[in-house]
This record gives sequence, C-alpha cells and structure tokens, in this order.
Amino acid sequence: MRTVRLFDEDRLAECPVAMMPPDQAWGLETARAFDGVAGDYHRTNSENPILRHMRQRSLSMLQRCVPAGADLIDLGCGPGTDHAAMVAAGYCVTGIDASSAMVHEARARAARLDGPHRPVVLCRSIEQLAKFPQASFDAAFSNFGPLNCVADMASAAEQLHDVLRPGGQLVASVIGRVCPWEIALYVARGQWARAFTRLRRGPVAVPLDGGTVWMHYVSPGEFTRVFERAGFAVRALEGLGVVAPPPYLEAFAARHPSLVSRLLAVDDTVGAWPLLRAMGDHFLVVLQRT
Ligand SMILES: C[S@@+](CC[C@H](N)C(=O)[O-])C[C@H]1O[C@@H](n2cnc3c(N)ncnc32)[C@H](O)[C@@H]1O
Repeated sequence: MRTVRLFDEDRLAECPVAMMPPDQAWGLETARAFDGVAGDYHRTNSENPILRHMRQRSLSMLQRCVPAGADLIDLGCGPGTDHAAMVAAGYCVTGIDASSAMVHEARARAARLDGPHRPVVLCRSIEQLAKFPQASFDAAFSNFGPLNCVADMASAAEQLHDVLRPGGQLVASVIGRVCPWEIALYVARGQWARAFTRLRRGPVAVPLDGGTVWMHYVSPGEFTRVFERAGFAVRALEGLGVVAPPPYLEAFAARHPSLVSRLLAVDDTVGAWPLLRAMGDHFLVVLQRT
C-alpha cells in the first residue's frame, strides 16, 4: 500500500493514505506539493516585485497592529521569508508549516539570523493549533494564503481563538474570489471557466509544479463571518492587487516595470476603499479576539 508522510511535529511517520479521512489526505497532498517547491520558493518570491510589494503591505499592517515584544505565531510560514523582518520588528516568532521541506528551509534561515530571539519553526499544520497550550500567543500572522488551504476553517478559527491571549490579533493575507485583472485577462482570451474559477464553491485543486494544492477561495465576507462566529471582530480590511496585476503576471511586470510600480502605488491607496477592499488577488484582514 502507498505510504505518505504525516506532518506531525518533527516526526515523519508513515501512514497508509487510504486510511485517512479526506481532509487529512487533502492536507498531505498539499504539503507534498509545497515540499516540491520549498527549495526555490524564497528566491522566486523575493525576486517577484509584485509579491515583494504585497509582502511589505502585510508586514506594515502587522507592525501597525502588533507591538514589539509580542509572541507571534506565523501560520503557514513557508521558508520563513518574513522572519527576518519580524525579528527586526522585535517579535518572538514561532512559525508553523505543514510542509516539512518548508520547515527545513525556515529553520536554516532562522539559524542564520543574529540575536537572542531566533524564530522557532515547527512542522505542524494549522489544523493542529490546539496542540499549543491555551493563550500561548499575543498575535498571529498568515501571509499569502495558508488559511485558504485549511479544510475546516471554522475549526481552525476556534483553535486560533483559544491559543491567542484575550485581545490578540490575526493579521492575514487571504486569496480572494474577485481578482479584476484575472477576470479581465481570461475573459479577453475567451477562457470563461478560468476567468471565474475563483467563484467555485468547495475545495479547488490547484496545480503546483506537478503536485496539487487543495484550497478554498473565499470572499472577505465569507472569511470574516467564520472568524466572527469563533469570537473575533474585524479591525481592518484591504484589497491587495485590486488595480495592480496578480503576482503570477511577473513577465508582464518585467516588461512594464514603471506602469506596474504606479499601479502598486495606486493599490496602496484604493485598496482600503469601500467595495474595492473586497476585491484583489488577496485581501488583507485584521481580526481581533474579543
Ligand atoms: C503560498 S505559501 C506562503 C508561505 C509564507 N507564508 C510566505 O508568505 O511566503 C503557503 C504555505 O502554507 C503552507 N500550508 C498549506 N496548508 C497548510 C496547513 N493546513 N497548515 C499549515 N501550513 C499550511 C504550505 O506548506 C506553504 O508553505
């Protein structure tokens, strides 16, 4: 029987995939897909000007909302691309990721950081947040869609509520449903299904370098309602990539660097406007444990 890796702590246990509940098998397939790209993920992300700009927006929001010295958990931290900035901002960082290869990369990056507060990185999924003691963290961060990959978002929101201290905030960038550039691009090409793929309900299989990432597209309203039911209140909402192209159009960005940098600057302003803040390649949301 085929065996697969379980992402439990640091162990790479073997478990027959056919015996797993579907959501766990989904998580494993997603983690394996990210394993496959982990080695090059930091470099390719850091070289992409649109991603760099979006990352800066998320980190600035984090620093506006969460004071230095906070115990911060980074949900789906990937190779730890944000960790140097978080440590420089004075946070005590714990990163978790379901992909063991991403964790390996993040630990290597943490080991190269100076100072007393090197990030601690665990191979643990967001679905396993309840393994942390209650009220372990002052704040949580999740950049570029790890929360879209969670099978049961309501359970994740409840677990996050419990591991945050009262008043603790979540700053997250989440993949949204209405990406104006994507719709315009694929409608212009006559690829209607691709143009509106983000409107699909339920899990969507997204190819990633030969693997499959399972995810849910969510609107800001759908996302915040789940967290409000778990005891959070919305503090801020902005669209990321409302008028600027999505990060996967990096070839376009390379051909038109000054146009794209102007659009990114416009995005910084209009992203917080009513109606527009519900659009974008991602949305940036701040939720507070009430
Ligand atoms: C698009 S990457 C973003 C990585 C990182 N946050 C960044 O900004 O570069 C998504 C990450 O989420 C992780 N991930 C996906 N599903 C997860 C889950 N259920 N629990 C924890 N991590 C997950 C993946 O392994 C991957 O590293």
